[in-house]
Amino acid sequence: MKKLIDVKGLCVDYVTFDGRVRAVDDVSFHINQGEILGLAGESGCGKSTVAFSLMRLHRPPALISEGQILFDGQDVLTMEEEELRSYRWKGASMVFQSAMNCLNPLKTIEYQFWDIFEAHDIVSNREESIEKAKELLNIVDIPSERLFDYPHQFSGGMRQRVVIAMALALNPKLLVMDEPTTALDVVVQREILQKIHELKERFGFSILFITHDLSLMVEFCDRIGIMYSGKLVELAPSKEILQKPNHPYTQGLGNSFPTLIGELQEMKGIPGSPLDLNNIPQGCRFAPRCSYVQDKCRQIEPQAEQLASNRWSTCHFHLNALVNSEESAQRNKPEPEYVIQLADVEG
Ligand SMILES: Nc1ncnc2c1ncn2[C@@H]1O[C@H](COP(=O)(O)OP(=O)(O)O)[C@@H](O)[C@H]1O
Ligand SMILES: [Mg+2]
Repeated sequence: MKKLIDVKGLCVDYVTFDGRVRAVDDVSFHINQGEILGLAGESGCGKSTVAFSLMRLHRPPALISEGQILFDGQDVLTMEEEELRSYRWKGASMVFQSAMNCLNPLKTIEYQFWDIFEAHDIVSNREESIEKAKELLNIVDIPSERLFDYPHQFSGGMRQRVVIAMALALNPKLLVMDEPTTALDVVVQREILQKIHELKERFGFSILFITHDLSLMVEFCDRIGIMYSGKLVELAPSKEILQKPNHPYTQGLGNSFPTLIGELQEMKGIPGSPLDLNNIPQGCRFAPRCSYVQDKCRQIEPQAEQLASNRWSTCHFHLNALVNSEESAQRNKPEPEYVIQLADVEG
C-alpha cells in the first residue's frame, strides 16, 4: 500500500507569555492511500493541533518546531504560498466541528461554491460552477435545487453535508475531519459518516478522522492512533486496538466506554486527570495514572516501538505482546499476575 501522508517526529509548541507548551511531542504516523486513520484521546491531548498542522492551518501561538510532513513525497512544511494553496484543497481539505457555522450567512450556497471554484481556477464561467456545485450537492444527498438557498435554510446536518461537499470540491486525496459530526445528533451523525464512507470508496481518498466517540471510531476507521498528553502512545488496526491493547492508557479508554457486542462489562474510568503540559513529569507521562506502573516508568521516558508490521506502542511494557507471548502462554498465569510478570520482564 502506498503512503499518502507521512508524519515524522512532529513537535508543535504553543508559545505564550507564560512560556512554551509542547502540545504535540514527537508524533509519527502515516496514512495509506484510501485508508481511514482515527485519532483518539482525551480533550486537550493534541488531536486538533495535529490536524491543523497537517493542513498547515495552525496559527500563532502554535509553532511547528520539529518534524517533517511528507504528502505524496512533497514536503508540506517547506511549501511556498502558491503550492500551499493548491495543497489545501486539491491535496488535503479539512472539515471541522463547527465548520457548518463557518458558511457565510449572507451568501447563497451557490455563491460559496463559486467562490471556491473561481479562486482555484476550476471553472471558466458561472454556469459551469453551478453544474459542478449541483453534482457535489447530489453526492451528499442534497437536492440540487437547494443550491440557491442560504445557510440558515438548512438543518445543522444538511449544513455539515454542504461543508463536506465543499471539502470534496477539488477532489482532494486526503480529507481531515476533526470532530465533524460532534455537534449533530447520533442519527444524523451516522448518516453522514456512512455517506463519507461511501464517497471514500467511490473516489479513493484517505481520511484522518478525529472524534471522542471511540465506538464510532472503531466502526469507521481502518487503524487508530491513541494520543495522551501530546504523545502518540499506541497505533494499531481498529479491529485489534481495544481487544488487544498494548498501552495501559488504551486499555483504560477501552474500559471506559460500553461495547455493543460481547459480554456485559463493568465500565471503569481512568483514575486521575490529564497531565498539565506546563508540568511534565520525568519518565512516562501516563505513569501517575497507570495501574501497571514500575520504577522504570517514573524515570525513563518510553519511546515508540514497533511491535508488529502495523502496531506501535510507547510503553516500556506491552500488555498484549506479553500476554500473547509463548512464554506467558506456557506460564498460563491469570491476569492479576500482570504486574509481577512485568517486573520479571524488566529485571
Ligand atoms: N491557542 C492556544 N494557546 C495555548 N495553548 C493551546 C492553544 N490551543 C491549544 N493549546 C494547548 O494544546 C493542547 C492540545 O490542544 P488541542 O490540540 O486542541 O487538543 P484536542 O484537540 O485533543 O482537544 C491543549 O491542552 C493546550 O494546552
Ligand atoms: Mg480538538
